[in-house]
Amino acid sequence: MKNYFMMLTMLTLLPSCVSQSQKSREAFPNDKNNIYQVLYYASLAGSSHNSQPWKAEVFGEDSILVFADTSRKLTVVDSISRELYISVGAFIENLRLAASCYGYETNIKILACPEGSSGPVASITLAKSKEKKEEAILNEIKLRTTLRTPFDTLPIKQSDWSTLVSVDSSSIHYFAATSAQGKFIRQKESEAYTQQAKSKKAQDELAGWIRFSNKDVKQKQDGLTTEGMGITGIGGFVVRNFFKPEDSKKTSFVSQGIDKTNLQVGNCGGWIVITRQVENIENWINTGILYQAIHLKCRKMNIGFHPMNQLIEEAGFESEANTYLGINGKIMLIARIGYVNDYPAPVSVRRPVESFTTFK
Ligand SMILES: Cc1cc2nc3c(=O)[nH]c(=O)nc-3n(C[C@H](O)[C@H](O)[C@H](O)COP(=O)(O)O)c2cc1C
Repeated sequence: MKNYFMMLTMLTLLPSCVSQSQKSREAFPNDKNNIYQVLYYASLAGSSHNSQPWKAEVFGEDSILVFADTSRKLTVVDSISRELYISVGAFIENLRLAASCYGYETNIKILACPEGSSGPVASITLAKSKEKKEEAILNEIKLRTTLRTPFDTLPIKQSDWSTLVSVDSSSIHYFAATSAQGKFIRQKESEAYTQQAKSKKAQDELAGWIRFSNKDVKQKQDGLTTEGMGITGIGGFVVRNFFKPEDSKKTSFVSQGIDKTNLQVGNCGGWIVITRQVENIENWINTGILYQAIHLKCRKMNIGFHPMNQLIEEAGFESEANTYLGINGKIMLIARIGYVNDYPAPVSVRRPVESFTTFK
């Protein structure tokens, strides 16, 4: 208690430190060539726990091999590597969009690389098609961010959810929050999150990706930062300076996470579910491509987007969900969506292009 009061006194004396936030992203690499800048945009894709599990090899000015960095796999919550490859798929979609803005046509081949092998998962060639650089899509890539705030509970307008579903109507499904299926997902996401939050193994894995201190953020440039988790202001100052990643396993932290999740699942307009017929690398990569594409669309429509995959990460929920939701196939990704008044700037950190790319 004494320490707590000392800390509060310090905080009143150090207002400037309180407002000092974590450095979020590297400055845009203005001095680099087109292919480097395209890879920078690719790396702004979302990834589970912000693990950024991608690698690239660049040959000359027009050819890129993309690899999954399996050393960044979440072995506990993603034992089959589904989310690892979804993240790589998101990277590929950003790469394709950014390259087109720089005037390149892309030819992307997803390679049937066996799981666990170190071979490339995609080969991409670029052909110059036009000169003009289109800034609008590049800006959308920069502005996309996972939002973990409560969203408006207003139903998503049919024209808006149709825009999302039409990206691939056989794989993308929408359930209004007020529908029986929406209520089912809300309930099961809450139960699955609670189960995971109390799992010792999942806690250990999460702690390994938590970057509380500014020093950790600067050194690793990946993982989940206080700002990214929405811990800001005085709370953010305290956590950045006095908490260790191990503290995320304490009961108080775990129950705060559960409370926050219950607030999140109860505050959205609906749910997006992405499915594919079978679990394999190609389908996971294609799911990542769809995830990134619809997240960018949501950003443009002022719709918050929050992947919540605990329902399929945790044992005991998936088959009931398949039956209840009437889904023919495998669930790959679940996201909470809803209108927001304010779309804050992205705060998740990224590793520099050199750290995941070899220029041959
Ligand atoms: C496959 C996948 C699963 C994810 N699952 C969750 C999740 O369960 N809960 C969550 O808060 N964020 C989840 N995310 C969002 C990531 O944490 C987020 O993309 C990452 O921290 C980078 O932040 P950004 O999306 O704002 O760039 C997931 C992202 C992906 C690609």
